[in-house]
Amino acid sequence: MLELQHISYVVREGDGELGILNDISLTIDDHKLVVFTGPNGGGKTTLAKVIMGLVKPTAGRILWNGQDITDLGITERARLGISYGFQQPPRFKGLTVRNLLTLASGDEKLSKDKCCQYLTKVGLCANDYLDREVDVSLSGGEVKRIEIATILARNSQLMIFDEPEAGIDLWSFARLTETFEQIHETGSATMIIISHQERIISLADEVIVVGDGAIRHRGPAADILPRILADTLGGCPVLTKEVKA
Ligand SMILES: Nc1ncnc2c1ncn2[C@@H]1O[C@H](COP(=O)(O)OP(=O)(O)O)[C@@H](O)[C@H]1O
Ligand SMILES: [Mg+2]
Repeated sequence: MLELQHISYVVREGDGELGILNDISLTIDDHKLVVFTGPNGGGKTTLAKVIMGLVKPTAGRILWNGQDITDLGITERARLGISYGFQQPPRFKGLTVRNLLTLASGDEKLSKDKCCQYLTKVGLCANDYLDREVDVSLSGGEVKRIEIATILARNSQLMIFDEPEAGIDLWSFARLTETFEQIHETGSATMIIISHQERIISLADEVIVVGDGAIRHRGPAADILPRILADTLGGCPVLTKEVKA
């Protein structure tokens, strides 16, 4: 179980302070699929980084399976079974896709078959990618999917995906959504997915709408999705303008 207790993250801005996260508390039970959504700049990535240990909150505590992990770094949290996929993943010149998957799995003898399975789950054809270097020759969407495959290979208890849909074609997106669904159905991990995609939001046990560094709404997808759609339309003058015949 993951518990965030009164998490705030305040940065200095000029002479004043800027609250990026403001007193966020939430509990996520094991094997749940929770989607964070909400407007750009709302604080979703920062919240994910706080959970992973990439950003240290200025107030509050984080508990993982009852243990206070607030002061632990990213490596220690990874050891405790937490993993995070960046919104914009880094590239690793000199390492092949196979190297990365092998490192992530912790199994030096990870078979080619196993590698292929992970890549297939994110909609990549293994034969085309296994020996490719994870450098600038890969597109943003390819690097993104390879990173997601490494998270799957890591087999963590808590997997955090930051906008996994970014830069991915519809076919791979469908494959990826199936993968999330499977993980969820088999109860093999808890997932936090930051997403704007209706298809992913509809898979969630709980949807948490983050805006201005706070939780704006939360609830089951069936309750929250209509509100998000209504908010979106309400906020756009073009879409709400009456069409005159
Ligand atoms: N270290 C920082 N210093 C200043 N502003 C920051 C810092 N980290 C994040 N922000 C700002 O906080 C807001 C929330 O960012 P982010 O968590 O990336 O939002 P989201 O992922 O919801 O789009 C943004 O306005 C971003 O520019
Ligand atoms: Mg973000």
